[in-house]
Amino acid sequence: MGNPHFLAIPYPILGHMNPLMQFSHILAKHGCKITFLTSDENYNKMKTTSIIGGKGKIMESHINLVSLPDGVNPQDDRKDVAKVILSTKTTMSAMLPKVIEEINNINCDNKISCIIVTKNMGWALEVAHQLGIKGALFWPASATCLVSFNSMESLVEEGIIDSQNGLPKKEEIQLSTNLPMMEAAAMPWYNLHNAFFFLHMMKEMQNMNLGEWWLCNTSMDLEAEAISLSPKFLPIGPLMGNEHNIMGSLWQEDETCLEWLDQYPPKSIIYVSFGSLISIGPNQFIELAHGLDLLKRPYLWVVRKDKGDNEVKNSHPNELKGNQGKIIDWSPQKKILCHPSIACFITHCGWNSTIESVCNGVPMLCWPFFSDQLMNKTYICDVWKVGLGFEKDENGLITKEEIKKKVDELLEDEEIKERCLKLMEMVVKNKGEGDNNLNKFINWAKE
Ligand code: UDX
Repeated sequence: MGNPHFLAIPYPILGHMNPLMQFSHILAKHGCKITFLTSDENYNKMKTTSIIGGKGKIMESHINLVSLPDGVNPQDDRKDVAKVILSTKTTMSAMLPKVIEEINNINCDNKISCIIVTKNMGWALEVAHQLGIKGALFWPASATCLVSFNSMESLVEEGIIDSQNGLPKKEEIQLSTNLPMMEAAAMPWYNLHNAFFFLHMMKEMQNMNLGEWWLCNTSMDLEAEAISLSPKFLPIGPLMGNEHNIMGSLWQEDETCLEWLDQYPPKSIIYVSFGSLISIGPNQFIELAHGLDLLKRPYLWVVRKDKGDNEVKNSHPNELKGNQGKIIDWSPQKKILCHPSIACFITHCGWNSTIESVCNGVPMLCWPFFSDQLMNKTYICDVWKVGLGFEKDENGLITKEEIKKKVDELLEDEEIKERCLKLMEMVVKNKGEGDNNLNKFINWAKE
């Protein structure tokens, strides 16, 4: 049997597409063929960056990009996550069998052997099951986060959470004896305050259990206890180490900031980024601007063009007069985090950012918003102890004084810095385990 042909189907947001694209490149390097399926909307955005066409990165590495409509109308609000999830499922699931047939007709000597999906695309594992094609889940967050979703049914049965909306009846939840006790509010379904999402994830877990493997960008050094809870877990991380030359980003990266970083001494810059989804809002934006100014240290701050924060930035030039900082639309984050001038990372604790920071030994200031981010903060601050969290004031704001206090505290904490380096060394040194799991996965797909 020849090398396998994978059909990769990420939920069409950056936090899913990026790591699955990176994983696809790794599979392609191992001689596998990849068809990467995304929404028409993202396909068109990708065409305007260097991901496809121009530099031909995808063609070179045997990754074929295809797209389907996600059924969201141009006038619809894409921030309505429930609408996007349902529409994507209805529209794409109806078309997928035909698309698979067409791909197989073109590749009759190398038909699709396995479908890999991310969260919210579990319906594609149902399609795979019906068509007799192998299926696997690529989970774009932590193994602990997946354990939490997989525990929802038993938490309902034990009366710990509500069966309709997942609201907890206790203040703290321990998912298993070896996992940390966590605030109930850190459960990823809880902090979305959304019954739709809870019930959707209950159904989604049934589909995800159709996958033979749960591929996770994690490692035993980071989450041994969670990984040991299911034989489906296959930790293939860390994917994000320093392999920064392969990018699935949808926005143009501002590479000029690397030269700007070059002029600063080691461990002097504060890097601030809240990933691809979050907008912090006007009051908080101003407070953060003042907080960074108070620090009297240089900073690099990503303020995305697509959201409200950019409007606040443009309408409050005086708040950003501090001569210390550089604000950019979108960074080459993996290159930033391994730059010697970076001292710490103010982060929303998205899983990809967390892994990228861990792999570069960069201490974190945790500013989680929703979903898995509060859970990731627990690991960063309480389990690995490689960062500190901010406290909110009575109005729910992280004040400029708090920002200054915590950044100063972190930068003076030699023990945290030492633990960061140790964790980085351990995770990077043991990467061979992830490589073995990758080979195991490819061999399974070949069978
Ligand atoms: C989403 C969810 O919000 C997050 O909680 C979940 O863990 C993954 O899916 P996102 O918010 O985008 O992800 O955060 P994150 O997981 O950190 O991913 C962001 C990615 O964009 C990272 O790979 C990061 O390197 C990249 N990035 C971010 C850039 O390349 N440039 C930037 O300026 C900012």
